[in-house]
Amino acid sequence: MSVKVVLRMGHPLLKSIANPVQEFNTPELDCLIEDMLDTMADFDGAGLAAPQIAVPLRVVIFGIEHNPRYPDIEPIPQTVLINPEISLIGEKFESAWEGCLSIPNMRGLVPRITNIKYKGFDQIGNEIERFADGFHARVVLHEIDHLDGILYPERIKDLKNFGFEDQIFLES
Ligand code: NI
Repeated sequence: MSVKVVLRMGHPLLKSIANPVQEFNTPELDCLIEDMLDTMADFDGAGLAAPQIAVPLRVVIFGIEHNPRYPDIEPIPQTVLINPEISLIGEKFESAWEGCLSIPNMRGLVPRITNIKYKGFDQIGNEIERFADGFHARVVLHEIDHLDGILYPERIKDLKNFGFEDQIFLES
């Protein structure tokens, strides 16, 4: 399969609601997921949503083994999550810096709920159900936002906390 072009902020598909996958365990779905895995690996990302490579389906992938972009982050299992559903747990929010392959070289400080349960299916159609917290929950919430046409800058509370990554962490 192949590394795809990643759409950048402003593209209409990144603002659109993606469609549920109707059929699992198909060559087309396997091909999409291989393309997504290749693309995420090439860009050294922690997650990717199908609309980012111009496929308007409710498919996300995520996972971190050891990622140089996130050196202090605990690993997340490599996951293919299709037609996801999220339950928010509790009312605790935390803010952390996020980036996105569709918004290269930028970072924003995004508040998100800390504890979630997510459900969905893998590419075979097996059910997935997990509890997640911390960065794992954050990554899942970020990716699922893509399926609903939401990019992380829309969730930043104070746009002073949005900027180029090589500028924003300079000591003032
Ligand atoms: Ni993103």
